[in-house]
Amino acid sequence: MARLDPNKLPRHVAIIPDGNGRWAEARGLPREQGHRQGCEVVREVVRACHELGIRVLTLFAFSTENWDRPVEEVGEIMDLLERYMESETDELVEQGIRVQAIGRLSDLSPELRQRLEELTRRTEHNDEMRLAFALSYSGRTEIVDAVRNIARAVEAGCVDPEAIDEKSVQNYLYAPDLPDPDLLIRTGDEHRISNFLLWQLAYTELYHTERLWPDFRKQDLVDALVAYQGRERRFGRTSSQVRERR
Ligand code: FPP
Repeated sequence: MARLDPNKLPRHVAIIPDGNGRWAEARGLPREQGHRQGCEVVREVVRACHELGIRVLTLFAFSTENWDRPVEEVGEIMDLLERYMESETDELVEQGIRVQAIGRLSDLSPELRQRLEELTRRTEHNDEMRLAFALSYSGRTEIVDAVRNIARAVEAGCVDPEAIDEKSVQNYLYAPDLPDPDLLIRTGDEHRISNFLLWQLAYTELYHTERLWPDFRKQDLVDALVAYQGRERRFGRTSSQVRERR
């Protein structure tokens, strides 16, 4: 912890929690046990981010591609997500955390949508930290949905195509007011973005760990933050330009 500079924390941390299935299989357990343990770790990591002063956390909870998993596994994950949203509501309200969901939420069951709506509504005035769950989410789908809505606005005469710039595209994303992630953590030793936040990750620092998500602890989060603090973020500039601006 002493290695961490509180003045250089990433504002927004995004996480791809990977490795639940492998964690369970290595123990001869059904994959569902890995997802169950994965939910416990989400609970701990949200608390840890809150304690450390991270302002925004986005978690890739379920991708549009994950619908192609065996139907039993999808059902188990959906049940766990529903239970997580229900059991965490009071603590998230108390912690001052504002929750939202991004993705094609209409794909989710009415029960899960209702839980998410309640969580979103009950936390909407919180401002200690923001927590976004990406559910039935894919970066390409998000861009397709934005393009469709921009096309509709052009057709309705509300938007001049010549005036479309990066900022206006941002305004059509699922959560336009969230800043771009500064740090992306992926567990489970995979070195891919897997269709996560494709627009928003343009200048995000990427961090991979071999740790499987169910084994990920606060110390692993701190290690990722320390690694982030050692990076030089140049945004296309040169090193000396960056040093001059400090
Ligand atoms: C990743 O491990 C897990 C998923 C893709 C699905 C479910 C995610 C969770 C239950 C954690 C997030 C929970 C909340 C409450 C936001 P995997 O199954 O892809 O693991 P593998 O690569 O080892 O098979």
